[in-house]
Amino acid sequence: MKSRAYVNFALIKYWGKKDEVLRLPFQASLSFTVDKMYTDTLVTYNKDLTKDVVIINGVKDDLTNSKRVIKHMDLIRKELNIKEYALIESKNYVPISAGLASSASSFAALSHAATINNNIKISNDELSRLSRLGSGSAARSIYGGFVLWQTGDDYTSVAKKLPITWDDFRIVVVVVSKDVKEISSSDAMEESVKNKDGYNNWISQSKIDLDEMILALKEKDIDKVGIVAERNSNHMHNIIESTGIKYKNEQSLDVIKKIEQLRLQGIKAYYTMDAGPNVKIITLKEYVTTIEDKFNDYETIICSAGNDVHLVD
Ligand code: PMV
Repeated sequence: MKSRAYVNFALIKYWGKKDEVLRLPFQASLSFTVDKMYTDTLVTYNKDLTKDVVIINGVKDDLTNSKRVIKHMDLIRKELNIKEYALIESKNYVPISAGLASSASSFAALSHAATINNNIKISNDELSRLSRLGSGSAARSIYGGFVLWQTGDDYTSVAKKLPITWDDFRIVVVVVSKDVKEISSSDAMEESVKNKDGYNNWISQSKIDLDEMILALKEKDIDKVGIVAERNSNHMHNIIESTGIKYKNEQSLDVIKKIEQLRLQGIKAYYTMDAGPNVKIITLKEYVTTIEDKFNDYETIICSAGNDVHLVD
């Protein structure tokens, strides 16, 4: 049985760490875990191994990815007093190659596979914490649907599932580029935090955004959700751009323009963007066909709520 964890997209972004090693965020974030994109991982401990063997998407010991996986395995072994090395087999399932493969689903699946899937009993909070230590946003991928990741210390900065179900809520990913990003989110965050005034403003505004978002989700008010999500995403990208880094490209701007045109026609569609040029549209089920038509020049992925991390055959 493999561990399956799903990708999540933030409606209120995590941007900036107050502790680089522990990956503690300066502010809380809120995301939606989706069903169409996920990672399956199997960790098999073996006392005969003299080092970890990592196979990702069928490729053995590919240096760029396996280094981070082994580092995370070392951390889990140290925390839980595990003595053996392991065979780690992981596969990312996204409808397209590269670009959208996510560290969030990868580290949530790896943390689950290395512990619970090997009969090592840990709590959900501990699983979220371990996932966070691999990649910040992975803390949120242990739960499906709407998830809040709190700020705090090493033990309290974990994700919690929000008691909100919204069956018609959709995220449509518009694939603008499949290229691997040039500047990692970690590097861009570090630069952003250096812009002291701008960054302090980001922390205080994101608290306001978060409160408004929670209320809007409870009320199932798609316009409110969309307006706050766009404002929050634009704020993050403004800070990023103040450092000279830019994730939006010409096509991202074209997609955003088209979303604004759709809104003028009464289609409830709003955007959010992360550390790359792809655009995610926040909408409801009834608008998906019209949105797909508008973006038929692009590859799109229609996502509903995904599940909590779980075991699959
Ligand atoms: O966990 P990381 O280092 O990949 O950071 C993710 C940052 C954003 O995707 C831009 C925002 C978020 O909250 O997911």
